[in-house]
Amino acid sequence: MRFEVSSTKAHKQTTELAIVAIYQDQQMSPAARLLDKAGAGISAILKRGDMAGNAGEMLLLTSTGGLPSERILLVGCGKRDKFDRKALRSATQIAFKWLRKRPYKSAVSYLGQDVIRDANAARVARITAESWHHTTYSYNQTKPSAGKNTLALTRLGVAVKDASKMPAARKGLRQGDALGLGLNFTRALANLPANLCTPAHLAKEAKALARKTKNLSCKVLSEAQMKKLGMGALLSVTAGSAQPAHLIVLEYKGAAASRKPTVLVGKGITFDTGGISLKPPATMDEMKFDMCGAASVMGTFKTLAELQPHINVVGIIPTCENMPGSKATKPGDVVTSMSGQTIEVLNTDAEGRLVLCDALTYAQKFYKPAALIDIATLTGACVIALGSHHSGLMANSDKLANKLLDAGQAADDRAWRMPLGDDYARQLRSNFADLANIGGREAGTITAGCFLGSFTKDTEWAHLDIAGTAWIGGKAKGSTGRPVALLVEFLLNN
Ligand code: BES
Ligand code: MN
Ligand code: ZN
Repeated sequence: MRFEVSSTKAHKQTTELAIVAIYQDQQMSPAARLLDKAGAGISAILKRGDMAGNAGEMLLLTSTGGLPSERILLVGCGKRDKFDRKALRSATQIAFKWLRKRPYKSAVSYLGQDVIRDANAARVARITAESWHHTTYSYNQTKPSAGKNTLALTRLGVAVKDASKMPAARKGLRQGDALGLGLNFTRALANLPANLCTPAHLAKEAKALARKTKNLSCKVLSEAQMKKLGMGALLSVTAGSAQPAHLIVLEYKGAAASRKPTVLVGKGITFDTGGISLKPPATMDEMKFDMCGAASVMGTFKTLAELQPHINVVGIIPTCENMPGSKATKPGDVVTSMSGQTIEVLNTDAEGRLVLCDALTYAQKFYKPAALIDIATLTGACVIALGSHHSGLMANSDKLANKLLDAGQAADDRAWRMPLGDDYARQLRSNFADLANIGGREAGTITAGCFLGSFTKDTEWAHLDIAGTAWIGGKAKGSTGRPVALLVEFLLNN
């Protein structure tokens, strides 16, 4: 797809489709008014009552009175003074969902051309490109009956108010394009079933990405290498599985080697049965999504690969299955983590923290992170606390926490901070080890955060619990790609 910025006025635009806004009470946007004045007949259509301008409405004009735009799509955008970033995103996606099935090769969107309270020209362009990728994603790996997703469109324009906005909009388009590709990479990995998306598959995909990308390298540690490093916590999770565990390490070097990297650690449990503390069967299939942290790290690297920013970022992905079996870890077993701290595994279903703690120790031993951020579908309790709207955020640094909150806000991929602290950490005391891997029913998201916090004491660290945000259940079951947008926003701001 070629994304382009255009400062051409709507009535002079040569395209197969011009997409323009009609606000509530039949209020024409400036682009619609220009087209109308030039003879497109929009006011007459509105007068006849064919469209009110409510959000969700659409009307296609197939003849335009001889204007260079062959067709006009009128898109209802709701109240003009309420038309914000969120409304823009939704109107754009409604239009693109319609457009993706059409045979047109070119289109120009004027939807974000007017002043929007909370989005500048760069943000509008970014949202437009991102929305194109979002609406054209389709799952096809194991569903031949869905058919091939062939798109006719090859050129998509974003109209800006005047030429002065073009450089900013171009930058936004590039970012939105790269972000959309990253998000879709994450979604494709996350949606793939666990019989295909194994730890080895994730490793293969990471290596393939590194191979075709400038400034990106990848290495994959084997179980034997992890054993040598003393990763007893991580290895205790994979003990019951026939699939070998891997530790994937991605290094993106876009700045001087002396610049400390941001390190992202993503939970990569390709299937979580709960282990010996077996989960109940209802919706257990959704535990194929327990690698969404890993997938979000890989999607973030895909975006970095496209954008080539001047930063250093490391991605670390501990990946394995959590299975029951004769070799599986049992409740009450005590394991020794890479940090030296011993852990009593009271519940084998609290496995995410076990793979993450060794990955976090590895990150601090081999890199001196400027910031260390882990991303994990860690606790069902987080779904209860925050639902699917905010990811849970915990951190040992207010500065880092605030940067992540701001990034989530700007990218429309929000997080909400939860506390940590000794009062909660006490719940993890064990009679038989330095730590227990569960802290009781109360504050389950926070005690999981405290557990990880015991492994990151000397580093600026934050933890994102994406259990409620990474995928949708039910009829529209599938990965959301979150929190790739938050992570990319954060990395590009730093
Ligand atoms: N992967 C799950 C968390 C999860 C559950 C995410 C449901 C999304 C939906 C995690 O490994 C887990 O099982 N956590 C346990 C922890 C408990 C045993 C302390 C949980 O949340 O029940
Ligand atoms: Mn679990
Ligand atoms: Zn899990």
